[in-house]
Amino acid sequence: MNYTGSEDRVHPARKTGCGRGENGGVAESWMIDELAHAGPEHLDPVFVAGYDRKQGYPDPADDLAAFEAHGLDETSAVVDLGAGAGQFALAAARRFGHVTAVDVSPAMLATLCERAAAAGRANLDCVRAGFLSYEHSGAPADGVHTRNALHQLPDFWKALALNRIARMLRPGGVLRLRDLIYDFGPAEAEAVFTGWLGHAAADPADGYSSQDYAEHIRTEFSTFRWLLEPMLAAAGFEIITVDFERRLYGAYTCVKSAG
Ligand SMILES: C[S@@+](CC[C@H](N)C(=O)[O-])C[C@H]1O[C@@H](n2cnc3c(N)ncnc32)[C@H](O)[C@@H]1O
Repeated sequence: MNYTGSEDRVHPARKTGCGRGENGGVAESWMIDELAHAGPEHLDPVFVAGYDRKQGYPDPADDLAAFEAHGLDETSAVVDLGAGAGQFALAAARRFGHVTAVDVSPAMLATLCERAAAAGRANLDCVRAGFLSYEHSGAPADGVHTRNALHQLPDFWKALALNRIARMLRPGGVLRLRDLIYDFGPAEAEAVFTGWLGHAAADPADGYSSQDYAEHIRTEFSTFRWLLEPMLAAAGFEIITVDFERRLYGAYTCVKSAG
């Protein structure tokens, strides 16, 4: 397994096995530093080692089914943006033809790549890049998945990221987006957050504690549903399904419009 640094960018499509590369063009002077916004914990190998236990083991069945409902199968290519330690990407590689797992964090990507190699997946490539720097090449993707990662970007950059996602998909391609998204108005924030923090894990090793949630609200960029949905429309997506849990966690299935 090779690691390719920025001096020698190799696109994963040219690699075999758990191809591991880094891609993205030269950044404009006004471009945000995605690594600086990635969340310091995601860059910390100690946090990454305990990440699965902390976040639990969410079943990706609904996400896989959302793609399959739109015709994706063993011939399809899927990109997972902000893939983390690979819980979705590994499952998707067992179901779809090719998966490109993209993450800006070297520590997350190292874990994901080790797992992909251990699983013997030749159809899973790992690329170190961000929402705003990943360069998709070859045929447009059939699906893009992103879970609990888009909130790392402030809203202006989310809109750009969604536009880039639309451009890497074929017409009719599917975006499955899950994230912490606020399904309430500003006047309700205090009441909703009080309830949320009241249901947090007691031990931060076992789950997200009230301190973790408070830090998320203070320092990360979860947005309102009523701001996100116009961004999806502006990027050229039609929202097909949307589900919210506790007015805080949104799951969207969107299709890229043909026009
Ligand atoms: C909370 S984790 C979620 C990981 C995975 N999607 C999951 O659900 O288990 C957020 C991930 O997004 C990555 N990330 C943060 N900012 C990013 C960006 N701008 N582009 C790509 N990945 C990013 C982090 O490195 C981290 O792995």
